[in-house]
Amino acid sequence: MLVLAIIVFVVVELALAVAIFRFRKRKGDDREPKQTHGNTALEITWTVIPALILVGITVPTMMVLFELREPPEGDVITVNVTGHQWWWEFEYPDIVDAQGRPLTTANELHIPVGKTTELKMNSADVIHSFWVPPLAGKRDLVPGRETSIQFTPDVDRAGEEIPGQCAEFCGLGHADMRMLVFLETEADFEAWAQQQLEPATIPTEGPEAAGFEIFTALCAACHQAVVKDQDGVVSVIGEALAPDLTHFGSRSSLGARVLDNTPEHLAQWIDNPSDIKGMAPELNDFEKGRILGMPDYGLGEEEIRALVALLEGWK
Ligand code: CUA
Repeated sequence: MLVLAIIVFVVVELALAVAIFRFRKRKGDDREPKQTHGNTALEITWTVIPALILVGITVPTMMVLFELREPPEGDVITVNVTGHQWWWEFEYPDIVDAQGRPLTTANELHIPVGKTTELKMNSADVIHSFWVPPLAGKRDLVPGRETSIQFTPDVDRAGEEIPGQCAEFCGLGHADMRMLVFLETEADFEAWAQQQLEPATIPTEGPEAAGFEIFTALCAACHQAVVKDQDGVVSVIGEALAPDLTHFGSRSSLGARVLDNTPEHLAQWIDNPSDIKGMAPELNDFEKGRILGMPDYGLGEEEIRALVALLEGWK
């Protein structure tokens, strides 16, 4: 298209320059130029040639467009991406734990290099947009409609950590709806996936045990975790309305990447989340499952410390 456009540009501009120069008004020459009206042959020519050029561009463009929509073949990693106000949910439907539950994580997407990954995207509320510039194009997440994007990172990109951002205005926390993509070797990815499939341990003593009580009483209203008790019995606690916290301690950031994940930051976050990130927890509607942010539960210092100990310990 660029080559065609350059040829057309040069021809048209040359013709224009020649017309301006050759037929300009000269001193002492007041003759009126020859007046003509209409030229059927010329008009047909300058209609047919551009029409043919446009057809020549359209046919290969459409072929490539349809090709791009074809689902990838062969050994593909599928990730179901759900946009939420204001965080990202990543579910790997083909990577399941002993109970058959798919690997689920939030805001940090791990993918192996040298392999095709297909993201199947949807939204839980409003339109969001997946945008990780050095990885692939941009794709909207539309409620009630599946969109997809696929990419195959080169093998030598293993180790890259690529920041991404929601690119469609989606409300108060839009600017803080960020993510991080980890490109990993296949071995590193497998190790990460295996570790993420392990349940978290229910602590029996210390501040962690106190933290677990607070977790089940408060956090579990929105957050889910897969936990294992002392007898090795695995169960799922909580609601899946906010990020899954089973492996919170293994993530590098919190609040959809508004802060690095450190015990100090987590304490600040629990103490007053809306201070750190624009959210609207006063509009939360549990009956409709519509969550617009984490509320400040007014926890005391000791309770916060207990929760931090629990969550940072869930690697
Ligand atoms: Cu989600 Cu902007």
